[in-house]
Amino acid sequence: MKKIALLVLFFFPAFLANALEKPSRFPEKNLITTGVYYYPEHWDSTQWDRDLKNIAAMGFEFTHFAEFAWAQLEPAEGKYDFAWLDKAITIAAKYKLKVIMCTSTCTPPVWLSRKHPEILCLNEDGTRMDHGSRQHASFSSSYYRSYSLKMIEQLAKHYGNDPRIMGWQVDNEPRTFFDYNPDAQQRFREWLKKKYTTIDAINTTWGTLFWSNTYSDFAQINIPQHKQWGMNLNQRLDHYRFAANETSTFLDDQAAEIKKFASSGQWVTTNYIPSYDGGYIGKSKQLDFITYTRYMVYGESKGIGRKGYRLGDPLRIAMANDFFRPISPSYGVMELQPGQVNWGSINPQPTPGAVRMWLWHQFAGGSSLVCTYRYRAPLVGFEQYHYGIVGPDGITPTPGGLEYQKFIQEINQLRTIYRPAASLPSSYLARKTAILFNNENIWGMEMNKQTNQWNSMDHIMKYYKPLKAFGAPVDFVADQANFSNYPVLIAPAYQQIDNGLIEKLTEYARGGGNLVLTCRTGHKDREGHLWEAKFAAPIYALIGAEIEFYDLPMPHAQDSVIMDHQKFAWKTWGEILKPQAGTDVLAIYEGDFYAGKPAVITRKLGKGTVTYVGIDSNDGLLEEKLLAELYARFHIPVENYPNGVSVEYRDGFGIAVNYSDKPYALNIPADAIVIGKNELPTAGVTVWKVM
Ligand code: GAL
Repeated sequence: MKKIALLVLFFFPAFLANALEKPSRFPEKNLITTGVYYYPEHWDSTQWDRDLKNIAAMGFEFTHFAEFAWAQLEPAEGKYDFAWLDKAITIAAKYKLKVIMCTSTCTPPVWLSRKHPEILCLNEDGTRMDHGSRQHASFSSSYYRSYSLKMIEQLAKHYGNDPRIMGWQVDNEPRTFFDYNPDAQQRFREWLKKKYTTIDAINTTWGTLFWSNTYSDFAQINIPQHKQWGMNLNQRLDHYRFAANETSTFLDDQAAEIKKFASSGQWVTTNYIPSYDGGYIGKSKQLDFITYTRYMVYGESKGIGRKGYRLGDPLRIAMANDFFRPISPSYGVMELQPGQVNWGSINPQPTPGAVRMWLWHQFAGGSSLVCTYRYRAPLVGFEQYHYGIVGPDGITPTPGGLEYQKFIQEINQLRTIYRPAASLPSSYLARKTAILFNNENIWGMEMNKQTNQWNSMDHIMKYYKPLKAFGAPVDFVADQANFSNYPVLIAPAYQQIDNGLIEKLTEYARGGGNLVLTCRTGHKDREGHLWEAKFAAPIYALIGAEIEFYDLPMPHAQDSVIMDHQKFAWKTWGEILKPQAGTDVLAIYEGDFYAGKPAVITRKLGKGTVTYVGIDSNDGLLEEKLLAELYARFHIPVENYPNGVSVEYRDGFGIAVNYSDKPYALNIPADAIVIGKNELPTAGVTVWKVM
C-alpha cells in the first residue's frame, strides 16, 4: 500500500505543497479558538459581570457582541449610544475574553423602516415584509445600504482601534433578496446596463426573439417573476446573478467601511449559512476569511438508524468544511448548535455527546475558530425554548454547555502536544479529490430540469458520499483552481462550460490527472444556451465519445444499467453514448429500446484518464461502486468506512467521529491515542497523534 501511495505522490508534487498550507490569521499552535455569543442588551446589566465571568471560567476565549442591536446602538436617527456596549466590553476584557464586534445590519430599527418603508422587501407575490422580525430590509435598497454604512462608520470609528476587539462580523447569515421594490428594479437595470452596455446585447443573450420578448430600452426591463410560467431563462439567470452580487457587494461595502477605521490587527468576516448554490459565498473580497453556521438536529434529517435524528446528517458538517476551506484556507464556524433549537419542524434533544462530536467534526476539517449560539437561553422573543450554554436560569450549564467545556479542555490538552512539523499520512494525502463546483450550473439545471425527478445537489452528493467513505480529503473547487493538485477531479453535471475550461480539463488529464465527468456536463455554454451542434459536442473529443441522445424515463417504469453484472436502477437522467475506438465501456443500459448501449465509459488520455458517467442512479450505488473501481485502477489506496464514520487529519492529528448507530473499531496504536479509544461508540470521538 505504502509503495502505491508514494507513487501517486511522486506524480503530484504540487499537491503536497498545497496540503501543507496553513491558516495565517490565528496562531497555529492554538489549533482553534472557541467562543460564545452573548447579548448584553438582552439582560439586566447587573448580570453581565456574573455571565462574562462564567463564560471565561468555562474556558471560552472570546465572545460575540452587538449582532442584533441596531435599535440600541442608534435609538434615533443619528443619535448613537455605545456606552452600554463599552461597559460590556470592559467586563469581557476584565475576564480576558476577546470580542467579535458585529454590525447589526440584519435588524434595522423601527424608525428607519417607518421613515423609509421602501427598505422593506417586496416579495414576488406582492406581500411586503415588516418590522418585528429580522432580515426584512432588502440588500437592494439604496436607503438601507446607506443608513447601514452610516451606522457602521460610527461603530468602526469607536471600536476600530480597540485592541479588545479581535475582529468583526458583518451582517448575520447574509442571504439573497428577491425584492421587487422600485429601487431594486432600478438597480437591476443599472447592473444589466453595466454588464451588457447595449440593449441589442441583452436581446441576443436573453434570446428575446423567442415569444416576442424583445426590449428596446433598459427601462422596460423588470426583475423576472420566477414563479410565472415560461419566464425567460436568461432573464432569471441574470437575476440570480444580480441578487448574489447585491449580497456580496453589501458585505464588501460594510467590510470596506470598517477597514477605513480599523487597525490592521482586526479582521472582518461574516457567518454564512452554507447555501452552496447561493452564488455569493466567497465573492466578497473585502472579507479576510469566511465562516459558516451549522445546526444539525431540527427535525429534518433522520440520520442513521432509529435514533440517528439526534445526531443529524453525517455529511452536513463534512461538506461545509470541504466547501469553505478551499475558498478560505483559514475559515471558522461562527455558530454551532449547543442543544435543542426552537425553529425546526421538530426540535429533539441531541444525543448526549453529539454536541462535542460536532465540535470535533468541524475541527477535523481544519477550522481556526468555533463559536456557539448562544450563552443564555432567551426568555422572551421568537427564540424561546432555544438552548444555550446555560439554561433559562442563566447559570446552570446545559448538557451542551458541559460538552463545550469538555471540548475546550481537550483542545487545551492538544495544544500542549502540538508539533508544528508533524505530517499527515501519505495514504490520506494520496486520495485527495476535487469536486468541480459552480453554483451557476445548479441555477441553470434547476430552472430547466427536463424531469422533475432530477435534483442537482443530490446528484453531487452521490459522488461526495462515497469519497468520504473512502476517507478522502475532498475540496470543492472552482474553475480557477489548480487541478494538478488533485490526483482525481470529479465534475458532476457541469452543465455550463466554455472552451477554455474544456482545454484546462483536457490538459489536466493529459498531464496525469484522472478526470470524471458526469451526465449533463457541457450541454450548454456559460449563458445557458445549447450549442449549435450535437448535444454537448464540445466535450466529445475529451470524453472519447458522442452522446447520441438523452432519456428521462417515467418513475413508474424504471429500467437499469448493468455494470460488472450488477443492476442499478435509474429514473432521472441517462445519456446514451457512442464511444470512439480506444474508449472502454464500463456499463450498459438494459430494458428499453436502447438496451446494450453504453452508459459509462472510460479512456486513457495522455498520462491520465477520462471517465464519463452518462447516468444518474437512484440511490447512488452505481456511483459508489464505480468510484471504488476507478480508485483501484488508479492505484489510489482508499478506506471503507461505514456510513457515518468519518476520519480526517489536521495538524498532525487524526480525528474520528461516529454518527452511526453502531460502534466502530479503529486500529490505532494505543500509545498514539490522545482522546477516546479504539472502540468508537455512537457520538464518540477519538483523536490520535500521527506517528
Ligand atoms: C441561526 C441564526 C442565529 C440564531 C440561530 C438560532 O440561523 O444565525 O442568529 O437565530 O439560528 O438557532
